[in-house]
Amino acid sequence: MNSELTIAMPKGRIFEEAFQMLIDAGFQLPEEVEMSRKLMIEIPEENIRFILAKPMDVPVYVEHGVADIGIAGKDVLLEQQRIVHELLDLKISKCHIASAGLPNTEMDEIAPRIATKYPNIAMNYYKGIGEQVEIIELNGSIELAPMIGLADRIVDIVSTGRTLKENGLVEYEHIADVSSRLIANPVSYRMKNARIQEIVSRLKKIVK
Ligand code: PRP
Repeated sequence: MNSELTIAMPKGRIFEEAFQMLIDAGFQLPEEVEMSRKLMIEIPEENIRFILAKPMDVPVYVEHGVADIGIAGKDVLLEQQRIVHELLDLKISKCHIASAGLPNTEMDEIAPRIATKYPNIAMNYYKGIGEQVEIIELNGSIELAPMIGLADRIVDIVSTGRTLKENGLVEYEHIADVSSRLIANPVSYRMKNARIQEIVSRLKKIVK
């Protein structure tokens, strides 16, 4: 019998797509999980255990080895730079990271302020284009910042573009493409290689 494999899955908007992908890849998973509020799900038939985490926390579980593999957004991986192997682009939950602000506005010349929940991505981006900026870290509803004068620009995820539009903001710069990735703990990847490779090859077949 294989040793148990723990998979960290993101809760929230990525969950349903990621979960469906695992079902399509042939995993025997219960349908009602999507509705449940349980945070740990044992699948004895597959000898798999799922842990359901905040998207930002998936790489934390995987880096620490309490999850062998996980599904994480490229945004989170770029932001956190954790020691995990990125095994496969699942090409789901596609979106991009962009800067945005009020229309027809320049950034403050002396002290431009950027509101974001991605301080590292934002800092690296502006450093890369030679702009010295002050980063204001927020945890959500980032689009409020330019509207109420907290920041000149935001750096955030754009998916449909609806949130920007409804808040009267426009996109300025496209910073990075984002999609969900399969990641692995480096030790698990060595110790449970055959098992992890099997999952990678099953998922690869259904990546669109
Ligand atoms: C994300 C992101 C934007 C929105 C973009 O927020 O921060 O606000 O989705 O999606 P759209 O382009 O389809 O409108 P999320 O829903 O994760 O909530 P948050 O504000 O708490 O970050």
